[in-house]
Amino acid sequence: MAALRAAVHRRLVQTLPLSFGSLRFASSFKAADLTVERNTKCKPKPDPSTLLFGKQFSDHMMMVNWSEQDGWGAPQIKPFQNLSLHPASSSLHYSIELFEGMKAFRGVDNHIRLFRPMLNMERMHRSAERSCLPLFDKGELLECIKKLLEIDQDWVPYSQNASLYIRPTFIGTEPSLGVSPPGRAMLFVIIGPVGPYFATGSFNPVSLLADPSFVRAWKGGVGAYKMGGNYGPTIAVQNEALKKGCQQVLWLYGEEEEITEVGTMNLFIYWTNTEGDRELVTPPLDGIILPGVTRQSLLDLGRTWGEFNVTERRVGMEELLQALDAGRVLEVFGAGTACVVCPVGSLLYKGKTYQIPTMQNGPDLAKRFYTELTDIQYGRKPSEWAPLVV
Ligand SMILES: Cc1ncc(COP(=O)(O)O)c(C=O)c1O
Repeated sequence: MAALRAAVHRRLVQTLPLSFGSLRFASSFKAADLTVERNTKCKPKPDPSTLLFGKQFSDHMMMVNWSEQDGWGAPQIKPFQNLSLHPASSSLHYSIELFEGMKAFRGVDNHIRLFRPMLNMERMHRSAERSCLPLFDKGELLECIKKLLEIDQDWVPYSQNASLYIRPTFIGTEPSLGVSPPGRAMLFVIIGPVGPYFATGSFNPVSLLADPSFVRAWKGGVGAYKMGGNYGPTIAVQNEALKKGCQQVLWLYGEEEEITEVGTMNLFIYWTNTEGDRELVTPPLDGIILPGVTRQSLLDLGRTWGEFNVTERRVGMEELLQALDAGRVLEVFGAGTACVVCPVGSLLYKGKTYQIPTMQNGPDLAKRFYTELTDIQYGRKPSEWAPLVV
């Protein structure tokens, strides 16, 4: 009977449009069911000044399994360890995989804070729905993450120049080769300390390669979701940029060569627009842009300050080059969890290098955003955006 119910459910989900994928939300794991197995061989914590991104991990991880037959199991916190996967697992063959990237910060008051974590939970939930992975209760996942942070709290660096990176990951573990919704899945969370993006303590502007022959995401595709499959193919393009003496890729799209994102960051332009008004512009969330938590925060802050226009609209290369030529561009910067904001110094486009005067202009706005967000993250400025964990 259970098998029949599962088969009917699976068929129903397969034939329904995406928005009905939530039918897979038969249940969720619950933080109250968490079991904890303590690591008896805890590692020494690294010196925060020596940290490299994503190389070191804490003593514990969180894991919860799902199967079509049994639904969600009980979440577990256990010693950090290797996974054991069937070699036919659908994540390995068809990239049924998604992830999140967020941080915990040790504040000036020694309390640990997250930054707008429900935005990450919501984005992860959307990615799961688009990946035909089972849905879950976002609040319950956040509670499990908080419990993991509580257990490994000493791994949150005692430094306002470092933080703890949190990597929730969700993979299909279906042990068969059919291209179909996975009947098994695993959600896990690993965490590890990371250092400052700008090691010298001051902004380093990046140089960008803008080559319209490379495309990161396209209309009707999955660029708006944080799926692993969006990232692997960008590494070869990043290598092209390095070969041409640029540090990152400016992703263009379509006939108009719309400016979309920079590396793995959202892109912002601060300029005087053709009407003579100061304006902060970023591309709209039209399916090819990842809805960044930092992006949303900069838009929210800019709108709250009310000192300049804040606009979500498309900007093509031609429009940007005209504005540069006319001396109207003040600052161009990327925005993301890794760096908060990252100034752009130059652009290589069709063999010509264009200088962008971001650093010459302070960068006043980028710095102001950086200070505002890091003050909130490190508890220097109270805000409901930074809920306490411990
Ligand atoms: C493609 C892409 N764009 C933008 C961002 C910035 O998003 P967030 O501010 O949530 O880190 C990221 C990083 O997650 C990304 O991978």
